[in-house]
Amino acid sequence: MRNFRRIGVLTSGGDAPGMNAAVRAVTRYALAGGVEVFGVYEGYKGLMEGNMRLFNERDVSNIISRGGTVLYSARSDEFRTEEGLQKAIKTCRDNNIDGIVAIGGDGTFRGATDLTARGLPCIGIPGTIDNDITATEYTIGCDTAMNTTLEMVDRLRDTCESHARCNVVEVMGRNAGYIPLHAGLAVGASAILIPEIRFDEDEVIEKLMVSKEYGKRNFIILISEGLGNYGEGLSRRIEERTGIETRFARLAHVVRGGSPTLRDREIASEMGVEAVKLLLAGKSNRVVCMRNNKIVDINIAYALTLDRMYKGKLKPEELEPYSEKEIKEMRDYCAKKRAEMERFYKINLDICK
Ligand code: F6P
Repeated sequence: MRNFRRIGVLTSGGDAPGMNAAVRAVTRYALAGGVEVFGVYEGYKGLMEGNMRLFNERDVSNIISRGGTVLYSARSDEFRTEEGLQKAIKTCRDNNIDGIVAIGGDGTFRGATDLTARGLPCIGIPGTIDNDITATEYTIGCDTAMNTTLEMVDRLRDTCESHARCNVVEVMGRNAGYIPLHAGLAVGASAILIPEIRFDEDEVIEKLMVSKEYGKRNFIILISEGLGNYGEGLSRRIEERTGIETRFARLAHVVRGGSPTLRDREIASEMGVEAVKLLLAGKSNRVVCMRNNKIVDINIAYALTLDRMYKGKLKPEELEPYSEKEIKEMRDYCAKKRAEMERFYKINLDICK
């Protein structure tokens, strides 16, 4: 087992509420185990440039309740090149950093895998509001983003009711519809439109007309940003065909900020501790995941392949390293995940009137 003296912690990709709780947990747990911690600023960019400093316990005080990331975040094209990776490796070598905990999304994990392949042990923690990392049931930040969506949409409903209007609301999540799906059910949306589930716009509009005839005054439609620039056109068509005055709102980055919820703080803390435990146990190239509500760890390469399979981006040769049994497991897992989304979608369909 490698003797860890110093580790680095960084946040990369889009920020997410709860990232600070993970940074705090990583720092405090490592320090308690006699391991020094470098807080690396601006993700892999900072690692390449050596933009970091040693943290003590007090450096992570009072950050658990703060949104965003105190380590800042950046997306770096240079880090994707061999030269960029070597710069990051050099920073770690020069500063005696024995391992990295990288908090972020799939791009962050690709970076972690690349560093591991060059001899630097890395552990990933899933942090993104999108909850779009297939290997884990949960990503840090998603709960806060969903709750912020609830709050915003509840407000919109108040004014829709006063004016007998419809509001089409676009929510972030990149190509994933997790936030609109779950927040949509919780706000009582008349319709939820996401890329993962085929829908018929005519049927959606028909349903609004029926509800209007029954005396409904307010209508909320939650849509995913993954549908492209769909919301404004949809709003126009709803108004033209139903006569219901319709407004369009894009919540955008609003749902990415704010103080993290209890769930995000708690899971981030648990995942942060687990990441350090894994590094100290000599493991690397693992991502901390939630499966069946338990914290587990999964090989990052496996997690990325599973992700590409779920998103329909997999090239057949990418399955070559895996056994028949593993491939079947991956397929079953993806099918289960899809079925779960459909089940949820159906609940809303059955009860939105
Ligand atoms: O991945 C998080 C996320 O907020 C997505 O939901 C969204 O598509 C994207 O990042 C926006 O990226 P940016 O912050 O670069 O505008």
